[in-house]
Amino acid sequence: MRGRLITIEGLDGAGKTTLALALRDELVDRGHDVRLLREPGGVPVAERIRGLVKDPGLQVAPRTEALLYAAARAQLVGEALRPLLEAGAWVLLDRFVDSSLAYQGAGRELGVEQVGAINEFATGGLRPDRTLLLTIDPSLGLLRARAREAPPDRLEQEPTAFFGVIAAAYAELAAAEPERVRVIDASEPPARVLDAALAELADLFRPT
Ligand code: TMP
Repeated sequence: MRGRLITIEGLDGAGKTTLALALRDELVDRGHDVRLLREPGGVPVAERIRGLVKDPGLQVAPRTEALLYAAARAQLVGEALRPLLEAGAWVLLDRFVDSSLAYQGAGRELGVEQVGAINEFATGGLRPDRTLLLTIDPSLGLLRARAREAPPDRLEQEPTAFFGVIAAAYAELAAAEPERVRVIDASEPPARVLDAALAELADLFRPT
């Protein structure tokens, strides 16, 4: 594949969307063909699943939740990610498999390995070229997320402790794959977060 897949991960309220928008502008300035996508979503089937899985009025069992995220991802990979990467685009993706490993594998206690296995099936093994992990204190992230979205969605209604578990799982994923997953302190102002992100992507800009 000729393009690049860059995923952005972190707790709700960490500032992923702000960073994604700023990075898109920077990459466009550098002459890349850039596409910004989000999970769950990005293509019509996945956007429908997003509505389901975020609905605070629904009870969704943990295994169902993991499968819904994986189903949305499978559609995004087949319909958008692979064709875009094959055409040489730089894809900035707000959340990917690591979200499921952290939220469903650790947060819902389904096990990172089991959730990894269904996602291997869903993605056909597609891996990001780089993952930017934005770290933030879980209670601060929740405050920001809840201020932005009222009423809070189904996941944002979970207690702060749930997000502490997810933050710890993300840290483990980063420690296990330091080459791919780069940790960025999201409590810094947006311009500093952008600079840090660009520094972590620098080697990808060089011709391979
Ligand atoms: P967001 O796009 O507003 O961040 O909402 C997505 C929510 O879904 C967020 O609470 C994180 C959660 N999520 C998972 O639990 N697992 C996943 O695989 C993905 C992509 C998101």
